[in-house]
Amino acid sequence: MSNSATIPGYDYGSPRVPRSAVTLDDLRQLEQAAGFTEADCQALRRAAEVLSDRAEQMVDAWRARIAAQPELARWFFDPQGRPDEEYKAAVKRRFVQWVRDACTRPRDQAWLDYQEEIGRRHTPAGKNRTDGANTPPLVSLRYLLAFAAVVSSIRPFLAGKGHGPEEVEAMQAAWGKALLVQVALWSRPYTQEGLW
Ligand code: HEM
Repeated sequence: MSNSATIPGYDYGSPRVPRSAVTLDDLRQLEQAAGFTEADCQALRRAAEVLSDRAEQMVDAWRARIAAQPELARWFFDPQGRPDEEYKAAVKRRFVQWVRDACTRPRDQAWLDYQEEIGRRHTPAGKNRTDGANTPPLVSLRYLLAFAAVVSSIRPFLAGKGHGPEEVEAMQAAWGKALLVQVALWSRPYTQEGLW
């Protein structure tokens, strides 16, 4: 497992990350709206034990989907229209870390602040800046939302480590809800003040 402190551009908990305008009360409301409960929190922690050494494999599977669809792949392309491999590799390390964070990090202010930052990094206000890349400045919101359908389904990665179907289902359900809450938070930097 990589030590998250050594991942370039991974600014979780750093003073470089601005405070989110979303409050912890807003977050609890959002979690409630998604039906995300304390039991889901615990299921996610159990999922972390299963997923931790599979996180890279998960990201590779999602990346393969992106690479296979030109409309998505182009957000990693340099001005010559070629994949920017350095950028892809740098982002991948943070994406793998996110899988672990999504299961284990307490949902506190630092977590909330980094959700805003992840959203921002998909928009012109933040994309490319962390890695000094020169790729298109935006991942369109509609694709961020639609791709949640791919990332939300992790049953194949949860299986095969001795958990029964009910337990796998609990972990899957918790992951799906947690993901939707995060994607809802990531949508904020895309929206007009007052409409989020
Ligand atoms: C629900 C779906 C998605 C999830 C869970 C997700 C997750 C992430 C995460 C965790 C990061 C790294 C954040 C960090 O810097 O710490 C990231 C960055 C990025 N994602 Fe996504 N993403 C999603 C959809 C997409 C889609 C559809 C694309 C389009 C190809 C995309 C392209 C990118 C790019 C280009 C970056 C790097 C942004 C930058 O810092 O320059 N993402 N994503």
